[in-house]
Formats: sequence, C-alpha cells, structure tokens
Amino acid sequence: MKIAVVGTGYVGLVTGTCFAETGNHVTCVDIDVQKIEKMRNKQMPIFEPGLDLLFNRNIEQGRLDFTTELAEGIKDAQVIFLALPTPPGEDGSADLQYILKVAEDLGPILEKYAVIVDKSTVPVGTAEKVRAKIQANAKVDFDVVSNPEFLREGVAVDDFMKPDRVVVGTQSAKAQKVMELLYAPLVRQGNPVIFMDEKSAELTKYAANSFLATKITFMNEIANLCELVGADVDAVRRGVGTDSRIGNRFLFAGIGYGGSCFPKDVQALAKSSREYDYNFELLNSVMEVNHRQKTKLFPKLIEYFGGSLRGKTIAVWGLAFKPNTDDIREAPALYNIDEFLEAGATVKVYDPEAMENVREIYGDKLVYSPHQYAASDDADALVIFTEWPVFRTPDFDVLAKGLKNSVIFDGRNLYDLDAMADLGFDYISVGRAE
Ligand code: UGA
Repeated sequence: MKIAVVGTGYVGLVTGTCFAETGNHVTCVDIDVQKIEKMRNKQMPIFEPGLDLLFNRNIEQGRLDFTTELAEGIKDAQVIFLALPTPPGEDGSADLQYILKVAEDLGPILEKYAVIVDKSTVPVGTAEKVRAKIQANAKVDFDVVSNPEFLREGVAVDDFMKPDRVVVGTQSAKAQKVMELLYAPLVRQGNPVIFMDEKSAELTKYAANSFLATKITFMNEIANLCELVGADVDAVRRGVGTDSRIGNRFLFAGIGYGGSCFPKDVQALAKSSREYDYNFELLNSVMEVNHRQKTKLFPKLIEYFGGSLRGKTIAVWGLAFKPNTDDIREAPALYNIDEFLEAGATVKVYDPEAMENVREIYGDKLVYSPHQYAASDDADALVIFTEWPVFRTPDFDVLAKGLKNSVIFDGRNLYDLDAMADLGFDYISVGRAE
C-alpha cells in the first residue's frame, strides 16, 4: 500500500517506519525543514530502541521517504495517518489546532479516495470535526477513521509489531477493508483488530491510559499505607497480581507516574467529562495522589539529614520518566531535583540517555556525571528515580567506597531489603520497611 504519515513525532515515526517494514511505501510529512533534511540523511530524531535499524533499512530499500510538502506526501496514498501533537491547552483539554489545520489543507488536494486516520490521542468527537474540515473543500470521496495507538516509549517497535490488539473506529465497510489489510501482518497470531464506532475508539484510548494510571496510583496509595502499618508493598503486589482478574502488570509502586501520556490523558479525560457535566471524581483523585506521590521522597532525605540539605551533595541516578527513553516530560526526577536545589544541595546527575535534555533545562545548575559512579563519588546520598537496567545490579563496593554515607533513597524499589542490610547500606525505598 501507499501510505502517508503526517507528523514525524514519536508516534508518526514509529508508525511510518513499522508500516514500511511490513512492505508498504511510506512517505512521512513534516513542516520542520531541518528535521526532514536530517531524516533524509538517515539521522533518527528520537531515541527508541530498535527503531533506527528499521528506519535505516527501509530508507535504503526505498520504502520510507520524507517531504515537507503535504500534497507531494499524500499523492496516491490510500491511507493518510494524522500523527500530530495534541498538547494540553491552558485548561487541560487537548489542543486540536494542528490536526484541524492539516484536515483543512487536505480537502482541496485529495485526488482520489483515501482513508484518513486519526492516530493522535484526541477527544471524543474529533473524527467528526476532522471529517467536516476535509469535507468543506473535498472534491473526492474519503473516510475518516479513529485508530488510537497503545505504544509504550522504550518498547514501541515491539508494541507496534506485536500489538495486544488494534482498535479501529469506523462505520465505513470500505475503510474497514483497507485497515484490515494494513494491519493483517501484525495480527497473524490471532490478536484482534477490534472494529467499533469512532467515538468508542476515541474513548478507548483515554480509558486505557487512565485505567493504567489509576492502577499505578492505587498501588502507590497501598505503598503509603504499607509504610504506616509496617507491611511490604512488594509482597502485596505479588499477592494481588497473581489474581488473573487483577493481573500483575502496572502494579509497581514508586514516586509517581510521568511522561507525555498518562498525565496529559488523565487530565484531558477529566476535563472533557466536565464538558458533558460529568464529574469523573476518580480521575481527580488520581491526579492529586500522583502529584503527592512525587513529593514523598524529599521529606525522607530531610529527615535523614537532620532537617536540612544545605551544603550536602546529592547523587541522582535516573532522570528520564522511565527506562529506555530520553524523555523527561513530567519526570518525577525533575520535581525532586528542584526541591534539592531549593534546599541548598549540590546535585550530581547521571542518566544513560536523558542528560542532554536535562542540560537544556538546568544548564550549569547541576553537575553532569559521565557515569553512574562519578555521580555517587563524594556524594552524601544516592537517590534513584529511574529503573534503568544498569542501576539494578551496581557494584555496591564501589558505591559504598565513593559515597560519604552509605545511604540510598530508592524511588523504584530496585533492591532487596535484606541484601542491602547485609551490605551495610541505609536503604530507604517506597512502601517497604526501612
Ligand atoms: C503509555 C501507555 O502505557 C501506552 O500504552 C500508551 O500508548 C502511551 O502511554 C501513549 O499514550 O502514548 P508510556 O507513557 O510510554 O506509555 O509509558 P509507560 O510504560 O506506560 O509508563 C508510564 C509511567 O508509569 C512511567 O512514569 C512509569 O514509571 C510509571 N509506572 C508504570 C509505574 O510507576 N508503575 C508501573 O507499574 C508501571
């Protein structure tokens, strides 16, 4: 098939590259001239494990190309994906200006039937708005379909190539056939392509992310309770997660969820519910509890150091909102680093991928360490914010020798409590005995 992907952010690039990999011809369109130029030279603009291999291969084999011209990009395309940003507006609702502008531009330049696919996370009713914008100037027949993505950063290629399910919102039999064909290589093991009406598809995306955010938040509250009653959240997690009705994934307590999706989508669903005069109270609590969770670790440091961090050096391992990404949007690490700086501490940081992004925000306010032990050497304490694999089995001898005090504050519960006690560390984690 001939496919166009408009918008080469994270979702667009993964979608375009993976559909090229299944044998389609994909043209990616973006208004950013420099970005397009770089991609033409095989420079991948995002960090996503495994994607660069597919990206290079498909460019070399002529199945993946790039343009800044919408008309050129969509020429002969049977499917046109809209993978444009939907940032939260001032009031928390998703801002649709980029999607609607492209929809408006598409109308007059569509030359033959195409399926236009909303891939971005958009509020209920967006497909209808996109259709109306295109329709206003269209000369040919077309369909608009909602096809939300469920990719996780860091494992997006795998999620795309082996999806649990694909959700497609359309009532057009013609569009349904096209989408079935497109996704057929990805669902050969019997994982379903679930067809439904557009609005339900649009809502499915928000419901899935909000449910997962709620699941994590619930466990964070259980962790807080564990600390008060002297229970161990890891044991509780194993105990409840083995119930197949609950499931064992997304039950890890920590210092709150972050990233570009959960915070934005929970807020947007709460906001759009209010527009229908519905108070989605559960989501309001999820947002509040998640914010509170980010603040849980800092007082533990203050208490440990007798009331003040002034003059202390704090080593930070992990800046990205989760492992295998350089994304620092809404990362709990940043909230805490601000607190450490405000309290008068020197902060030495290390992250395998996110250092440059953090440097852009903090400049010379932080000490950037070339490796994890350079951060912990001569620090008064180590604080862990991201569960990168490289932090899971560190050399504790090197760590103990380098740190001024053998103390670790762990926002991700990476280590075994007994093992840490045997090693002589003061080890303060989330929802477990100290
Ligand atoms: C999330 C969803 O998982 C994807 O399905 C969805 O497509 C994506 O949002 C999106 O809307 O684009 P992502 O934000 O990449 O993906 O990251 P997740 O792996 O879901 O993690 C989100 C946050 O939850 C992270 O801060 C992570 O540390 C936290 N988390 C996750 C926990 O605190 N505990 C857990 O058990 C799992």
